[in-house]
Amino acid sequence: MTESPQPAARSPRVLLLYYSYTGQAKKVLDAAATVFRARGCEVTEAPIEFTDPRYAERFSRFPMRRVWPEFIGMLPAQTLQRTGDIRTPDAVRTGDYDLICIGSPTWWDTVSMPLRSFLKSHEARPLLEGKRFAVFVVCRRKWRKNLAGVRKLAEKKGGRYVDGIHFTYPGGELPSMLSLTSYLGTGEYRDRYLGVKLPPTNIDDDHLEEARRFAARVADKVFGRQKQET
Ligand SMILES: Cc1cc2nc3c(=O)[nH]c(=O)nc-3n(C[C@H](O)[C@H](O)[C@H](O)COP(=O)(O)O)c2cc1C
Repeated sequence: MTESPQPAARSPRVLLLYYSYTGQAKKVLDAAATVFRARGCEVTEAPIEFTDPRYAERFSRFPMRRVWPEFIGMLPAQTLQRTGDIRTPDAVRTGDYDLICIGSPTWWDTVSMPLRSFLKSHEARPLLEGKRFAVFVVCRRKWRKNLAGVRKLAEKKGGRYVDGIHFTYPGGELPSMLSLTSYLGTGEYRDRYLGVKLPPTNIDDDHLEEARRFAARVADKVFGRQKQET
């Protein structure tokens, strides 16, 4: 009797789900993706688009036109944890993923409106139900409430938390905020702003290396440990 052929095992599928205004969340997820791909995973990207008529315009261009009012203007809605209009790619609705990596920039000490809007939407449950997810937070300094917030929202939609990591930028509260707003307002890295010496802002090569190490740990947990090469 001939054996019936086994169905070919499909490659593990990873979704990179994120909102990223200046590309920092995307950078750490892209670094993680190189690790997943090297382990044979199929990686799909799902950037969330922020389309809300009240807020989208300021995030539709970089640098910001009027950085202080546009930056501080998000504070009330963020503090109230409001949601707004977003658009998501088809990959969110059509794929069946084994791991979802969520890239989450902090906005005013919490989850950004675009990502919160997705995680509270009716699209989140079909994507996350029973699926494992890992969280990548990027911010100047404030990561805790963002990470906890993403975890809680995604678990509420049936997701299974695997692990989380945060990437922060150097400097105290005021210098790091000035460094960020200087960058958001000019698109350039400057040494000084408003008389204050600025620390570096944004993701650097060490962060990317850390993102790759974290991705390897997550891959071990979700897809099994990789055999060591001899
Ligand atoms: C509207 C807005 C509010 C922010 N609020 C905070 C904050 O409260 N704490 C913090 O550490 N970083 C804050 N940031 C900094 C972002 O988390 C940081 O710039 C991050 O790198 C953005 O990632 P992205 O480029 O992927 O969007 C804020 C940025 C923006 C645009």
